[in-house]
Amino acid sequence: MMKLILNIFLLPLLLIFVCCDSPSEKTISETDKKTEELLSRMTLEEKVGQMTQINITEILIDSIVKNYDSVTTFVLDTNKLIHFVGKYHIGSFLNGRAVPADIWFNYMNQLQRVNLRYSKNKIPILYGVDHVHGSSYLKEGTIFPHNINIASTFDTSYAYLQGKVTTYETADLGHHWIFAPVMDLGRNKLWGRYYETFGEDPYLTSKMGSAFIRGIQENEDIKPYKAAACAKHFIGYSDPKSGWDRSPAEIPDQVLREFFLPSFKAAIDADVKTIMVNSGEVNGIPVHASHDILTKLLRDELGFQGVVVTDWQDIIALQTMHFVAENEKEATYLAIHAGIDMSMVPKSTSFCEHVIALVKEGRISEERINQSVRRILKLKFDLGLFDNPYPRNDRFARIATPENREKALNAARESIVLMKNTNELLPLKKEIKNILVTGYTANKKVPLCGGWTYRFSAKSDHWFPQDMPTIADAIKNEFTESTVTFAEENDLAKYASTAEVIVVAAGEENAYAETDGSINDLALSERQLKLIEKVLSYKKPVVLILTEGRPRIIHQVYDTCQAVLFAGLPGTMGAQAIAEILSGKVNPSGKMSFSYPYKQGHIIPYNYKRSEYSVIRPVKRELNRHSILEFGEGLSYTAFEYTDLTLNDTLLNENEKLTAKVTVTNKGKYSGKEAVLWFISDEYGSITRPVKELQYFEKHEIKPGGSYTFTFITDPQVHLWYPDKEGRKILEQGYFTIKVGNLSRRFKYVPKAK
Ligand code: GLC
Repeated sequence: MMKLILNIFLLPLLLIFVCCDSPSEKTISETDKKTEELLSRMTLEEKVGQMTQINITEILIDSIVKNYDSVTTFVLDTNKLIHFVGKYHIGSFLNGRAVPADIWFNYMNQLQRVNLRYSKNKIPILYGVDHVHGSSYLKEGTIFPHNINIASTFDTSYAYLQGKVTTYETADLGHHWIFAPVMDLGRNKLWGRYYETFGEDPYLTSKMGSAFIRGIQENEDIKPYKAAACAKHFIGYSDPKSGWDRSPAEIPDQVLREFFLPSFKAAIDADVKTIMVNSGEVNGIPVHASHDILTKLLRDELGFQGVVVTDWQDIIALQTMHFVAENEKEATYLAIHAGIDMSMVPKSTSFCEHVIALVKEGRISEERINQSVRRILKLKFDLGLFDNPYPRNDRFARIATPENREKALNAARESIVLMKNTNELLPLKKEIKNILVTGYTANKKVPLCGGWTYRFSAKSDHWFPQDMPTIADAIKNEFTESTVTFAEENDLAKYASTAEVIVVAAGEENAYAETDGSINDLALSERQLKLIEKVLSYKKPVVLILTEGRPRIIHQVYDTCQAVLFAGLPGTMGAQAIAEILSGKVNPSGKMSFSYPYKQGHIIPYNYKRSEYSVIRPVKRELNRHSILEFGEGLSYTAFEYTDLTLNDTLLNENEKLTAKVTVTNKGKYSGKEAVLWFISDEYGSITRPVKELQYFEKHEIKPGGSYTFTFITDPQVHLWYPDKEGRKILEQGYFTIKVGNLSRRFKYVPKAK
């Protein structure tokens, strides 16, 4: 009996000793020490204040707030600010508009000084801004092409440079939290944020987004500052069933894991410091209320240790949009339990009041609050904010430099896709005398940049740099030996007869963002279609230039236009890039980052499942053209020939790798860059397999007559497996085919007998 009693008492002691690392074994970093020490001095109110993010409109003077959308300067209302930082200890603010650098500097300098004067523990503010494609919210800031274009360069260096240039121009201004990149998969082409994605492929999105994150977070040129990226919007935001922003998504777990999760896992592997949550619901659960997604998946399974911030007003939306909570307090409880760290409230201190009440009622533990506050304080220490809380105004010369703009111009040049070039109409001959330019997007700046450019969605050109050319301007600047005429629709007849070529620009005429971009279908506007048809009626060679954030339907005119360029949203330097491609100064090298649908309705990605085109129930002939151009396709002015695809073996075992090589030769007369895309097809699978999947890409310039041998190493543990609905890895024996260019080779994967 005695022995039993002793065991009962001794065992717990033993367990305690065995389970707890002795301090010497667990290395605690300097930051962790500083975080714990600071945390220990904070009141509950201060902790909750650090978990709260307030919008800029709540701390500006009323007169500016009234005209916020056309704001051209910031004037802080110090009393409002003191209310937030003094009484509620608010730790983060966000947003802004494209005001000049000195205005940003004065605003941020005053914000931080007032905050540190009133902050008992001198905790600096962390400020978040949506610089999602260059310095979006800085007047005259360098604007890169949107992600849909960056992806079509198939060169991750442009994603990296986009992050570097953005932080190079804005870190001095106190912008240490960049709400980018969007890592959502571009699966739904109706979605109003399609252009913010890197297109329809998970691997391309992963590589591009990771490079963008590194460009932001590893920028050594912004010392003593650092910046944090924000992978958004975790998870399943980009495939609303109806295509309308923030409407319900129904994504089976296996599909979510195979197609939507890889990019966020890549972001975490790239050490992204923060993640923003999807505003929508997935399979009936709003993500902001999903413990399965925000804790079990994101924390426990993926191991993310950074800060999780809600999206705009999304705790309140649990009550007012999703109706899963009867009041804000219950909504707050759900979100804290789900696993958010910071609430982008963004226009009140309600979150603070609810959290404090929930802790005092014992429904949320203070340790749970400490968990989030630790992550936030650690982020602020990691960013060096405690040592360098203030902005600086001695390096404004960094903004909009020719070098920065050249980087954005190069990205635009390599992002534009030559979709069609019948009879090699392009590049236009030097001797060409008369070029007629028309189209509703030919003489406007807005259609080149889309949303998140100087404004949330700028509706007028006057927000754009004075020296930014439209497409018509740029063609005039490029073809100085020719007569270039821009004509509106009514004047076309006057000039069409003498024109040797007609360039018509079309696509999306207005900028949009978020719900502002929701549409019912992808049809091109009637008036644009009519204009293109009128242009075609003159029986002259026609070049169609598409500037749009998503693929508008053009099958009615596509086959008649001799040349078509997909320019996407190429940014402030985009018109120059377009003109240089028309003249041949630039040989286009972009490849589609998504499949451009031929007609409405049957809109599928390149990695469709085989039953889409079942061989036993062949589709009617006229239906077998689902895309005008498929993901990964794009023309060049030269001709690249793929030859000698070799595999070092046709049998691959579990712990081996397979080396594939292909030679690409430039058979044309122009030097050109070629992105070589390697795909793998899994011939049979327990879960239906995509017809093919991108596994690797590499881009090189090849001179006329020159060749380059590209290599791709297949690793079964990386390239041949897929997840089941629980995320378990499925790697099955069987035949696979490597596809590159117009070549393919088959091999068999045989795991070693157990
Ligand atoms: C918006 C967007 C998000 C953005 C945030 C802050 O609602 O969904 O992408 O970063 O609010 O502006």
